[in-house]
Amino acid sequence: MPETVGKLAGAGFEVVVESGAGVPASFPDDAYTAAGATLGDPWGADVVVKVRKPSADEVAKVRDGQILIGFLDPLADPDRVAALASRGVTAFAMESIPRITRAQPMDALSSQATVGGYKGALLAAEHLPRFFPMLMTAAGTVPPAKVLVIGAGVAGLQAIATARRLGAVVTGFDVRPVVREQIESLGANWLDLGVTGAEAEGGYARELTPEEMKAQQVALEGRIADFDCVITTAAVPGRAAPRIIPTSAVDAMRPGSVIVDLAAETGGNAEPTEPGKVVDHGGVTLVGLTNLPSTMPYHASMLYSRNVHALLLHLAPGGELNLDWADEITAGACVAGRKEGVPA
Ligand code: NAI
Repeated sequence: MPETVGKLAGAGFEVVVESGAGVPASFPDDAYTAAGATLGDPWGADVVVKVRKPSADEVAKVRDGQILIGFLDPLADPDRVAALASRGVTAFAMESIPRITRAQPMDALSSQATVGGYKGALLAAEHLPRFFPMLMTAAGTVPPAKVLVIGAGVAGLQAIATARRLGAVVTGFDVRPVVREQIESLGANWLDLGVTGAEAEGGYARELTPEEMKAQQVALEGRIADFDCVITTAAVPGRAAPRIIPTSAVDAMRPGSVIVDLAAETGGNAEPTEPGKVVDHGGVTLVGLTNLPSTMPYHASMLYSRNVHALLLHLAPGGELNLDWADEITAGACVAGRKEGVPA
């Protein structure tokens, strides 16, 4: 974002922007130059900032001693990270930044999940052949849509809040019991499926055992037909998405119902989800679109840009790189090129 370029330039950084990089987010090249950047080859810089992990061609462009920052997917694609390490790059993965209070301004998982959750609720409303809010019309009363949100982390809570603002009656569920209060504080109901998973390190859910997962599927199958829309966001870091909604549960839903599967990118929470597609399964619409933040590029970029700005100021206060390997954020986010002898 030009806003961030201006702040970085003011803080002593020299900023090079790839021509056209901001155009899909509504920022023409001259907005960057006006903010103090030059247009050029970003791969010549000391620190390269991207959104996604580098392509194979881009890995070939990195050089020894360079710093790379982005969503580098270290858990699902360790080979790409190893390739970066073998080229002498010090790589910081946005998703590996520890989720501690001090690092909240850098938390790009949360900022992008906020966009995804909001967009997920809008997609549910768009594909549902019904109104979300209750309406009193001359032609009679229209009842509100009933929406179930499964997985109430950052994306799920945003989906709950957005669906509530649109007037739906919303219910939420998560395996982490602490989330119940958060769901209820948003004015949504808590769905008791009788399945509880413990909270693991960092506030994440642990993976359910096969028996627990089966119990969850059976319990949900008994309740799912009560809802017009299901928005699923359940995830366990570094694992395939938990398969919460088997095909038999989708079959139990009424025709015209909608499932928005925000976990489609890691395989989907619903069995019939097809990542990247909107499909019809016996009259139930399954929305498996991936990379939802890219469908709202202006604010997704604004938030990501602010996250990266906070990380850059942390790694290079005053524009001078100063990597403090004793620091929890610096050491935790570094996935390649960490210096010998630094504790994990
Ligand atoms: P996530 O994207 O990894 O997972 C989404 C949700 O799915 C989680 O709430 C998880 O409990 C739930 N889930 C996993 N398996 C499930 C299953 N079988 N059935 C139903 N739900 C299931 O999580 P996200 O949104 O990245 O964050 C998770 C938590 O991390 C937050 O709620 C919070 O506690 C913590 N966090 C802490 C931050 C901080 O302190 N700086 C910032 C952001 C998050």
